[in-house]
Amino acid sequence: MPLVDEIENLRTTAERELAEVSAPDELEQWRIRYLGSKGAVKAAMGRLKEVPREEKPAVGQALNRLKGELQDAFENRQGELGSAGRKRRAVAVEDITLPGESPAIGHTHLLTQTTREICEICARMGFEVTYGPEVEDERHNFDALNIPSWHPARDELDNFYIDEGTGRPGKTMLRSQTSTVQIRVMETRQPPVRIVAVGRVYRPDTVDATHSWMFHQIEGLYVDENVTMADLKTCLDQFCKACFGREVATRFRPSFFPFTEPSAEVDVWFTYPDGREDWMELGGCGMVDPNVLDAVGYDPERYTGFAFGLGVERMAMVRHGISDIRLLFENDVRFLRQF
Ligand code: FA5
Repeated sequence: MPLVDEIENLRTTAERELAEVSAPDELEQWRIRYLGSKGAVKAAMGRLKEVPREEKPAVGQALNRLKGELQDAFENRQGELGSAGRKRRAVAVEDITLPGESPAIGHTHLLTQTTREICEICARMGFEVTYGPEVEDERHNFDALNIPSWHPARDELDNFYIDEGTGRPGKTMLRSQTSTVQIRVMETRQPPVRIVAVGRVYRPDTVDATHSWMFHQIEGLYVDENVTMADLKTCLDQFCKACFGREVATRFRPSFFPFTEPSAEVDVWFTYPDGREDWMELGGCGMVDPNVLDAVGYDPERYTGFAFGLGVERMAMVRHGISDIRLLFENDVRFLRQF
């Protein structure tokens, strides 16, 4: 048989036999038979001298191609049998009575959970949930909230003003309170208004167990005819009961905010994980100052309103007995997976 035909025959039989190989020792036999030093490919190469001189280059190339292809096919099969072999061994030692490994599944952060639950409570109490921008102007963060230009609350050291390319703090800032959203809502709607606004606020406060430089507030605003301080107190009492349980102890302390008059602070009784007990300040509140109603074009003779702004992290701490606000931002999964 001419060598060219023999090369094709060799390829066909070698490939067929390789496909039938099912164990490593059979594969080794195949390798010896075809690729070994006394194997079929070597023998065919030995016959190259019989080929007429002008055909030698083409037949030589065909032989080299055959050798390369069979070598590749051998290595592929070796890989297949090897991994199948490893799989078989693994199955043999696997103890199927052991408990399975459950995949780690993430969940929403405790602050997201708390925010959602608080919003749900407020929605049940008749408040519409709204949002406002975190980058604000001085009008919404200060001016319209009756905070005059000389007020210390506007100090550069107490706020994150944004450098607008001048190298100095500009007029825009990261909002320091969600009270900005009171103004944004009243600018665009007429009373009655009954909203809550929730989101991040930023202050360069010194970080400690109850303070962070970024935290969340929930702002409430109710403006209508005949809204009174009694409505505010009832609303916050009911809110605290829904949030912390009916037995919760709350207290109102007289306070001052430029945008409410009279003003108060709301505290809730908190039992720390180590058994210590104390009041925890939740937020500020009060009756909307007539100057604020005026600034947004509401008639202060006709309308009154109340507003409150509470710290969401502090609420999460009281609800879950967390002693340090920093745990909420470190994102240690050993802490987070408890909630
Ligand atoms: C205010 O921010 C007022 N805008 C609240 C308000 C709204 C009063 C409407 C009247 C009417 P204050 O600065 O006290 O108030 O902050 C409110 C609450 O935010 C605090 O009681 C506290 O719960 C939380 N808070 C304040 N600073 C921090 C901080 N650095 N880290 C974590 N929580 C904070």
